[in-house]
Amino acid sequence: SAVSILPGQPTRVLQYAGRLMKGPEDTLTQLPGSYLGPLMRLHKGQKVRIHFRNELSEPTIAHWHGMHVPALMDGHPMYAMEPGETFVYEFEVLNRASFNIYHPHPHELTGRQVYHGLAGGILVNDEEEAALGLPAGEYEIPIVLQDRRFDADNQLVYVRHMHERMMGFHGDRILVNGRPDFAVEVASRAYRFRLMNGSNARIYKLGWDDATPVTVIGTDGGLLETPESKPYVMLAPGERLDVWMDFSGRAVGSQLVMRSLPFSGAFPMMARRMMGEMMHSALPPGSDYPLFTVRVGRRVSESPGLPRRLAKISRYTLADTANPDKPVPLEISEGPMSMLLNRRPYAHDDLQPFERIPLGSVQLLEIFHGHGGPEDGMEHGGGHGMGMHGGMGMGMMGHRGMGMMGGSGGMGMMMSMAHPIHLHGQPFQIISRTVNSAVLGDYASVRDGFVDTGWKDTVLAMPGERIRLIKPFQDFKGLFMYHCHNLEHEDMGMMREFSIE
Ligand code: C2O
Ligand code: CU
Ligand code: CU
Repeated sequence: SAVSILPGQPTRVLQYAGRLMKGPEDTLTQLPGSYLGPLMRLHKGQKVRIHFRNELSEPTIAHWHGMHVPALMDGHPMYAMEPGETFVYEFEVLNRASFNIYHPHPHELTGRQVYHGLAGGILVNDEEEAALGLPAGEYEIPIVLQDRRFDADNQLVYVRHMHERMMGFHGDRILVNGRPDFAVEVASRAYRFRLMNGSNARIYKLGWDDATPVTVIGTDGGLLETPESKPYVMLAPGERLDVWMDFSGRAVGSQLVMRSLPFSGAFPMMARRMMGEMMHSALPPGSDYPLFTVRVGRRVSESPGLPRRLAKISRYTLADTANPDKPVPLEISEGPMSMLLNRRPYAHDDLQPFERIPLGSVQLLEIFHGHGGPEDGMEHGGGHGMGMHGGMGMGMMGHRGMGMMGGSGGMGMMMSMAHPIHLHGQPFQIISRTVNSAVLGDYASVRDGFVDTGWKDTVLAMPGERIRLIKPFQDFKGLFMYHCHNLEHEDMGMMREFSIE
């Protein structure tokens, strides 16, 4: 279908259209003027049935990102449906209150389908959250951040060059809930912003333009125990943040802009320059640009206060895990023309021994950059990095790139980039991050922006970073994906599966 996004020609998009057969009236609500799928409101404990019909001319399947559902209901790529087929999903909402995502998951087609419009939000609520009396209704605002590129006829432009695949596709225009130049009018009181990074590859460093701290009350898997005040917060593809903002005392007519603030290290310097120059991008990743505007439109006298205690989260310790000395590896590697996890491209049923997980166990996992990453460069000297260089250079930019490469130093470093790693199934807890000293300079520009005290299902692994997390594998046997949520990387095969057995 076609929607008006920019002035002029309507833009052709793919869309999730929803029709409610049974359930409360607000189960499906369309965001005004948006190509996004309807916002789905579910309640913990609710039983849900969804008839999903593929009206595209290519295979697709829907995944409920963040939701803890049986393997058969998880939208595994092996269940991708041919045009005209229907899949009936049935599951019980086991998640606590949280903001989740639905999006396609067919192998090698996910990035393109999401980019062209297939994505939507799922707001799960529960009693624990309801008891807090947080801002709701018009005072709770979903914010889905995406970047897009349009041609002269307002049609979406997707990957045309190999480097757009290697780095992940970046647009030059920010859309919020499918709208450009997004602005929202608020009353002088507290609001709850439910932020989701629905971009294919773009990483945001969120901050208010007047340097008001960002008050985070929740992450991917729901509310934190207590609010956290941050100078800025990082939001990588697939991640969500629940942000409290109180406009009490602000003058009617005043406005505040949420920006993405400058940061470095997530992409090799060379790649950033390439993306800026060759694609004439107005929005190089890691630069400073506005995301949306909030205007205070009216005065009200009452506002709820920020609760000091939000929820109960019991923290896992190593003692809870089945493998405290032997973490399940999640090794990131970047090679010429490839992005891999655990050194193998995605292939269904290509299970490695450590990918078989006993049902009911709690496991320690470790994300790290192996082969070709900065740590590798450190250990093996420059020789190795050099090889990677050449390969990447050819793949990314052909001969012209090679010359440009020569001028910049930093061997293995050049190659390495940040990857948002997502694990299907139950959410996890991050227990530690350690960073290679060679990247500390860049890391300083992001390090205060991670919220690791809550439940997560996606975590941004910066170059040179090693992240330990603890994840339960309960309730359901079967195959569950883990992958990079840079969707171009995912489609390149930076995806594998756990078999819970
Ligand atoms: Cu949001 Cu397997 O993805
Ligand atoms: Cu998922
Ligand atoms: Cu990646």
